Amino acid sequence: MRVLSGIQPTGRFHWGNYFGAIRQYIALQNEEESYYFIANLHALNTIRDPAVLRELTLEAAIDLLALGLDPEKATLFVQSDVPEVSELCWLLMTGAPMGLLERCHAYKDKKERGLTAEAGLFTYPVLMAADILAYDANIVPVGHDQVQHIEVCRDLAGSFNHQFGEVFVLPKSKVLDDSAKVPGTDGEKMSKSYDNTIGLFEDPKKARKKIMRITTDSRPMAEPKDPQTDHLYQLYSLFADAAQREAMAEKYRAGGFGYGEVKKALANAAEAYFSEARQRREHLVAHPEEVRQVLAAGAKKARKKAGEVLLRAQRACGVATE
Ligand code: TYM
Repeated sequence: MRVLSGIQPTGRFHWGNYFGAIRQYIALQNEEESYYFIANLHALNTIRDPAVLRELTLEAAIDLLALGLDPEKATLFVQSDVPEVSELCWLLMTGAPMGLLERCHAYKDKKERGLTAEAGLFTYPVLMAADILAYDANIVPVGHDQVQHIEVCRDLAGSFNHQFGEVFVLPKSKVLDDSAKVPGTDGEKMSKSYDNTIGLFEDPKKARKKIMRITTDSRPMAEPKDPQTDHLYQLYSLFADAAQREAMAEKYRAGGFGYGEVKKALANAAEAYFSEARQRREHLVAHPEEVRQVLAAGAKKARKKAGEVLLRAQRACGVATE
């Protein structure tokens, strides 16, 4: 089984990205052959500053490696380093129904808000399909928001196969368990667009300040509270082990404590949780050439696979001359 997923370098990664997606990519590298890439071509839809896009792409690679993505086990590369994907995208585009793309939520949402969308946003799911099909991926781990795109990928692959023969492997999505469960500092889902994130490698002092400002309700200290309905407890649970979680839950149920105490425990737990990754990150930031080597080796391997699949598709539809 081959696992593949992509992540856009549209900002520095936060707790939601890690617990919702990255942690699970890293776990899967031990079980399956895995390909992970940084989707800079998709990010170009929103980031129009070349220096920023370049920097965020490298930062994304640094963060993924620091967090434990192991290039000995998983293939890590940058989307645009595999130009075969863009060629494959065109082959798929010629058979992609407008109506199918008009129903895709990224485009639809923008249009409904009265904004004009670019062709890049409209055809975004076709590029995503090419990303997946180019590597004969079987499983695509994603959050709920991407499931529709995997369905589009299956549709496009299915109709190409129907017209031209069995060229593509039809992938399945694997919906990441925790994808909806990481609350932000305001209790809503943690997301860059809500401005409620805490960065993975933020300056610890700044992160601590944000944690101390997490919204809480105004119930008096003495009152017992239900830990399961409290977003501060949910955040603490992400970092704590089972015994620590239970001890904290007990405090909630007993009452007689302030939320400040939980916030301090959360800040300490989060700092400890990412401290090894932070050290690895410091090393990588000082040695970007090591990161570039990993990406170059990943791209080489990815291109070999994508080249085979592209040729298969070109031959099947008659655009290859041999
Ligand atoms: P992107 O970069 O928006 O998000 C990367 C992955 O993280 C998931 N995710 C979340 N999970 C949990 N909690 C959240 N708050 C949260 N926010 C995002 C997303 O569902 C996603 O799985 N189009 C893709 C990138 C892509 C791709 C691909 C993915 C391009 N080509 C091919 C898979 C296969 C995207 O924008 O993800």
